[in-house]
Amino acid sequence: MRPRFLQPGVCAVATLLGRAAGACLDGGSQDTINQLLQQGGPNTVVSLCPGATIPITDSIVFTAPGQEISTEGYPTDDTRATIIIQPGSNATVAIRGNWQDRVRVLNVQIDGNRPNAGPLGGDALLEMGGGTTGQTVSHAVVKNTRSWSCLHLIASGQDDNPCRNATITFNTVGPCGTEGVDETGRGLWADGLSIECTATTVTDNSVTGATDGGIVIFGSPGSTFLRNTITSSDTQRQFGAINMVDPNYNGNYSGVVVSDNIITGTGNGFIELGIGMGSQVWSNPHPLNNFGPTTVTNNIFRGNVGFSIVINGWEDGLSVTGNDVSHIHSPSSDFADASSCGSQQQAAFAANRQLVVYNPGAGTPLTLQPDFYELPANASNWLCLGHPLPTQQSFAPGALSVNAQTSTVVLLQNFRVQVQGDGNLVGYDTAGGEWTVKWASSRYSSNCGSDGSKCEVDFGGDGNLVLYDAQGPVWDSGTSGRGKTLVFYNAAPWVVVMGEEGQTLWTIADLS
Ligand SMILES: *[C@@H]1O[C@H](CO)[C@@H](O)[C@H](O)[C@H]1NC(C)=O
Ligand SMILES: *[C@@H]1O[C@H](CO)[C@@H](O)[C@H](O)[C@H]1NC(C)=O
Ligand SMILES: *[C@@H]1O[C@H](CO)[C@@H](O)[C@H](O)[C@H]1NC(C)=O
Ligand SMILES: *[C@@H]1O[C@H](CO)[C@@H](O)[C@H](O)[C@H]1NC(C)=O
Repeated sequence: MRPRFLQPGVCAVATLLGRAAGACLDGGSQDTINQLLQQGGPNTVVSLCPGATIPITDSIVFTAPGQEISTEGYPTDDTRATIIIQPGSNATVAIRGNWQDRVRVLNVQIDGNRPNAGPLGGDALLEMGGGTTGQTVSHAVVKNTRSWSCLHLIASGQDDNPCRNATITFNTVGPCGTEGVDETGRGLWADGLSIECTATTVTDNSVTGATDGGIVIFGSPGSTFLRNTITSSDTQRQFGAINMVDPNYNGNYSGVVVSDNIITGTGNGFIELGIGMGSQVWSNPHPLNNFGPTTVTNNIFRGNVGFSIVINGWEDGLSVTGNDVSHIHSPSSDFADASSCGSQQQAAFAANRQLVVYNPGAGTPLTLQPDFYELPANASNWLCLGHPLPTQQSFAPGALSVNAQTSTVVLLQNFRVQVQGDGNLVGYDTAGGEWTVKWASSRYSSNCGSDGSKCEVDFGGDGNLVLYDAQGPVWDSGTSGRGKTLVFYNAAPWVVVMGEEGQTLWTIADLS
């Protein structure tokens, strides 16, 4: 598109009333837009041309109440202008609208460009809220955040001037983050919408491929969350669809309504927790209950969702009715694995329980639809599912080396093999959250080092399976030069070294 030149502060700027007079902005950078906002003052509208791309290396910042960034003509298709973070920059925030009343982001695409610019810690891609009223983000595309969230409405920290009365509607959000951690162990996941704002309307948004929470409700008393669709990635794990687990606003969820949302896990992806409610449900339980009165009605759950609604750690009013879990994929073990869960979570998972409550942890008054399963005992942390595990795992020569500090050799369906600090290599059945020894090398060493790092199980490049300690080999499979594949199974014969033709050369039973 041919760039149109523009007089900063004149052509692209129009007040709400005089919008038709302005030409649109067809290029530039954050500096172009920031100059327009600074010079234009309150109610400045920066109107981007349809199809325009604005590469940015730093944030665009609203500087006065009532300012707006939008695409001319307010299209809702892919002609919406794109604001995109450039590789090589350290920006995580594309637009910052904190502490400005009634600012608006309308009908634009905001791309954090994570696949090219890389993940980076920092504030959310669209960072709004603070002590304000009347902010709006509508008909925007918000995707590929580099940081922890695609869109964040932050609280103000001021009781007499809370974040309030924001409108987040008809946005297309995601993907946001990826599952797993980076090489330093930092989580790569991200939220879709992170809402910490009172009396706010979050409706008709579509959030696809968020990997932390699809919509995270941080307290936010008086806010409504209606008709949103939350869909997992086709391949990745998503922690939660709608989270009501955090203690912001001292756990105040009074007046919050979560209704008519559609939550779907698809493909080989899945959502661990559809709607988690209460202080005991997430992986970071905290002692004080969240509180209502709160309403969760007529939400629909479909496909790969591990647990649709779990309630524990609530008080002062909860009504959960009319939610439909009839389209959940069953059995849950087709799409997820509960090996890392506690025993009650494993039991509920094995029985495909979708609506789960710990009644003493749900408070009064309590109205629940009849199909809830009542937990017999208190259970915290329902964020414990992983992808399905295989029943066997194979290694080529040179491909396996694990020491007793790392410990886990393989994780299989209901089974774990680990090398321990006394040199023992052990296979455990883990079904039901109870570990039962199924086999062990029963060869020990007192030379593993204080952290276990000196004892190592190794399928060498020569095809020999060896357990080493600080002084050398403790035992081996005697298959040097012949072993071509090492296989661990979750059933007998448990551990096998195979030769060229797939024939068994050695099994763990040969050690005894
Ligand atoms: C990004 O941050 C790193 C680390 O602080 C710094 O070395 C680098 O110069 C920054 N790059 C840009 C483009 O600001
Ligand atoms: C809420 O925000 C809208 C703008 O989105 C504004 O028109 C309205 O006056 C605000 N209401 C209150 C109670 O602040
Ligand atoms: C919870 O929030 C509502 C709405 O802001 C407020 O009216 C109420 O007093 C709060 N409850 C408590 C116990 O703080
Ligand atoms: C459930 O256990 C948690 C963590 O120990 C505790 O804080 C909570 O009070 C318990 N709930 C009930 C209803 O006893």
